[in-house]
Amino acid sequence: MLYTKPVTTTEMFKKAYDGGYAIGAFNVNNMEIVQGITEAAKEVNAPLILQVSKGARAYANHTYLIKLVEAAIIETGLPIALHLDHGDSFELCKSCIDGGFTSVMIDASSKPFEENIAITKQVVEYAHDHGVVVEAELGALAGIEDEVQVAAEDSHYTRPEEVEEFVAKTGCDSLAIAIGTSHGAYKFTAAQCTRNEKGELVPPPLRFDILEDVSKRLPGFPIVLHGSSSVPQEYVKMVNENGGKMPDAVGIPEAELREAARMAVCKINIDSDLRLAMTGTIRKFFHDHPEKFDPREYLKPARANIKELVKHKLVDVLGCAGKA
Ligand code: G3H
Ligand code: 13P
Ligand code: ZN
Repeated sequence: MLYTKPVTTTEMFKKAYDGGYAIGAFNVNNMEIVQGITEAAKEVNAPLILQVSKGARAYANHTYLIKLVEAAIIETGLPIALHLDHGDSFELCKSCIDGGFTSVMIDASSKPFEENIAITKQVVEYAHDHGVVVEAELGALAGIEDEVQVAAEDSHYTRPEEVEEFVAKTGCDSLAIAIGTSHGAYKFTAAQCTRNEKGELVPPPLRFDILEDVSKRLPGFPIVLHGSSSVPQEYVKMVNENGGKMPDAVGIPEAELREAARMAVCKINIDSDLRLAMTGTIRKFFHDHPEKFDPREYLKPARANIKELVKHKLVDVLGCAGKA
């Protein structure tokens, strides 16, 4: 079937849960990023979630982003959900629901449990009345999202004993949990890591015991992992060798994400890896071609490298190639 409009995540999550794979949720901010991601998905026939943060919406404008995503669906014919990432208020979620998104996240995870339930429930009621699905969050990831920085000491793992009550009372469609992933390119300090034989930082393992406990309490229910960039060291190196400065940037090992995708995790969020691919490529281009100034010349290889990176994620990490 050839799709012409964004879909919800209901069907894709059901298939992903049963099939032991996850859908990639990639953040989009401009045309080249949308094209890089969707051309990759088209080549390997994968379903997709394209997600837009509050910051992306402020940067690129709601209508431009909607139209870019619609163009990508028409070009690829793939099942693609258009999702609000980290909605921080009912009003923002409502505006995206009214404006054509098929999925929203209400992230009230920094609020007390009862308050998180109340605001999530309010969003769910409005969303479901309009055929839109809702992701909620329990637990707090470390790192940066929009202007909010969560210090490592303020982060905490999801408490499995809270999830049944939360899902029953809110009616949310999927749940983001904190099991040790973190936003951004600096997910762990050097002190939290060990070093492998090549001298590279190895982060502490994810808390699969929490994921397992949560999924036993919520059988068949889709779980979401945020902060799941792996921070490819070839791009960190490319940035650093071409005038950048990103010391000790480290991400989540891909093997752990593959394992999570085999379990109850149906949506894996990736943004920083795309930023790194784009920035590394453009920095190298400027270094190699100081005389060039046509944006198409440096955005083209950046888009091509985003495409390669996303293809690798879809095939080797998420396991969703061929599932569209
Ligand atoms: O989790 C946050 C995403 O990476 C989006 O980042 O808020 O800077 O657009 P942003
Ligand atoms: P990364 O910073 O690890 O790419 O996480 C992105 C994310 O969780 C978007 O919501
Ligand atoms: Zn996130």
